[in-house]
Amino acid sequence: MSQRSAVYAGFFDPFTLGHLNIVQRSLRLFDHIVVAVAADSPKKAMFTPEERVGIIREVFTKTPQVEVDEFSGLLVEYLHKKKVQILLRGIRTVSDFEYEYQMALANKKLANDIETFFMMTEGEHSYLSSTVIKEIARLGGDIHAMVPAEVIRHVRKKYEAQP
Ligand code: COA
Repeated sequence: MSQRSAVYAGFFDPFTLGHLNIVQRSLRLFDHIVVAVAADSPKKAMFTPEERVGIIREVFTKTPQVEVDEFSGLLVEYLHKKKVQILLRGIRTVSDFEYEYQMALANKKLANDIETFFMMTEGEHSYLSSTVIKEIARLGGDIHAMVPAEVIRHVRKKYEAQP
């Protein structure tokens, strides 16, 4: 895989406009982005890893530079497997920084060849989180300004299927 590839990992439960914004802007810098969906979630997930991969693939059907994949285990090992050296992370607020800094240092300790690349989330998306979106959707609120259209359909279906 070319040097200008990066892995953008997360739980993406669900994938938000903030995540989309990071991927779209990063495509100005990288030729290929792997959106890597973490399968081992410590949180109670709304979508299975397979569902999340399927939904994000729908979002990027017209963007061949974006590959969507699932991973489990250590993220740095996944990057080695994909032969990618850049780990892309979005930072929303100052409070994200401490956690991201710790994770970047831990990953560096685990794999010195991997570099973490930080991109600021655009201001209009900095309030978003997957948890907030799930809560709003659960209570019947409007999430149009928060997630891509492909995601809305799946979130609706999920809640309609619930008793
Ligand atoms: N726009 C909107 N929301 C965003 C966002 C953005 N640009 N960036 C992050 N978020 C939200 C996410 O939706 C998530 O919301 P939630 O907590 O309500 O679900 C929250 O911010 C945290 O997301 P993030 O920190 O990006 O990652 P994650 O929690 O989705 O994923 C992994 C973290 C999977 C990358 C990390 O746990 C990992 O690497 N796991 C593999 C195991 C491993 O290697 N561990 C050692 C790491 S040191």
